[in-house]
Amino acid sequence: MTHAAPQPLTARRSGPLHGEARVPGDKSISHRALILGALAVGRTEITGLLEGQDVLDTAAAMRAFGARVERTGEGRWTVDGVGVGGFAEPAGVIDCGNSGTGVRLIMGAMATTPITATFTGDASLSRRPMGRVTDPLALFGAKVVARDGGRLPITIRGALDPVPVRYRTPMPSAQVKSAVLLAGLNAPGETVVIEAEATRDHTERMLAGFGATIRTEVTAEGRVITLTGRPELRPQPIAVPRDPSSAAFPTAAALMVPGSEVRIPGVSRNPTRDGFFLVLEDMGADIAWENAREEGGEPVADLVVRHGGLKGVEVAPERAASMIDEFPILAALAATAEGTTVMHGVAELRVKESDRIDAMARGLEACGVRVEETRDSLTVHGMAEVPGGGTCATHLDHRIAMSFLCLGLASRAPITVDDASPIATSFPDFLPLMRGLGAMIGDAP
Ligand code: S3P
Repeated sequence: MTHAAPQPLTARRSGPLHGEARVPGDKSISHRALILGALAVGRTEITGLLEGQDVLDTAAAMRAFGARVERTGEGRWTVDGVGVGGFAEPAGVIDCGNSGTGVRLIMGAMATTPITATFTGDASLSRRPMGRVTDPLALFGAKVVARDGGRLPITIRGALDPVPVRYRTPMPSAQVKSAVLLAGLNAPGETVVIEAEATRDHTERMLAGFGATIRTEVTAEGRVITLTGRPELRPQPIAVPRDPSSAAFPTAAALMVPGSEVRIPGVSRNPTRDGFFLVLEDMGADIAWENAREEGGEPVADLVVRHGGLKGVEVAPERAASMIDEFPILAALAATAEGTTVMHGVAELRVKESDRIDAMARGLEACGVRVEETRDSLTVHGMAEVPGGGTCATHLDHRIAMSFLCLGLASRAPITVDDASPIATSFPDFLPLMRGLGAMIGDAP
């Protein structure tokens, strides 16, 4: 996929941020709602869907596989599913744009149906490893042809007679786990996924909500997730909670800019996603959760954040999976903390939308911050005032762009990102939302 013209943006030192930040719906849950809706029999009604490009690409893909997907209002969508095993062969190539979650979950969802589909994506997605998903899909009986190194474009011929699979994920990855579970839906018998460390569990929760028989046991070898194949999935209304990974940006901005107080309502508090907020508490951040409640099978609460002195911390590798998407903004925040922050066990960051260890390290250096990196760690030396003044390369990565724009709100000189356009993949209203709080973000000089 070709990429639109780059959109450079500059963030400048801002006065206190104040107000309510209604961040968008959770990206992970939005993808899963569309995919499970397409595999259910009947109509799934979704509210609060993230209308970012990643999710819109998944909606288009579900249409291409035969589901009827309609937008009925802001964040309101209906999906008329075709049932497990009911996917039709798409007429054209499935373009998943920038979305690793989209392409990996959809490849899983079609791999046990006897149809052929070809997947592609943008320059970032085409660099990312797909063998981690296509290897287990081949065990079900799917035939896979990929570019060198297991990269997109990839063609999958779904298994005619799928067999169930018992698979231990070689890296902590909810995308790999979910791809195997979605493939297991149309295999007879029990498909088992074993993960050494807990990763986000939205697929398991939503499958249970749609009536599948699925159980998770915590054993000595890790979490053992067992799914019974060939269920009839029954549509469920899905209220998508607000994305904690998107909430992390206004949260960090409020913590960095003196005098700020920001409220973020209805944020998912799923325990497999809360690592960033636990680290903030370790750093001494002034954050409070109010009105804890349950919405659509997920715990949610309102988050209140106030600026306050932050201290550097060591982030243990066991935390990584529960905050994997929050390391870029944590690295930016750490630059403003007192002392040093060390993030351990973060090698997976090298295969995200960009090599996020490298992108953050180079960008922070361009802003005058001292950093050290190893293959699987990043160290950031905090300073009383970040000099700023640099231009940071975002490498088609929304979270790198948002992280440096937040840092620019608290640095001495402005910070420019070379391309803010990827922000639309996960947080289309980032700019108006941040400006509404008082953030000075505008065209690059
Ligand atoms: C996601 C899982 C994570 C995360 C991504 C969304 C998901 O990727 O980085 O943004 O929705 O399952 P991995 O599972 O590859 O770590």
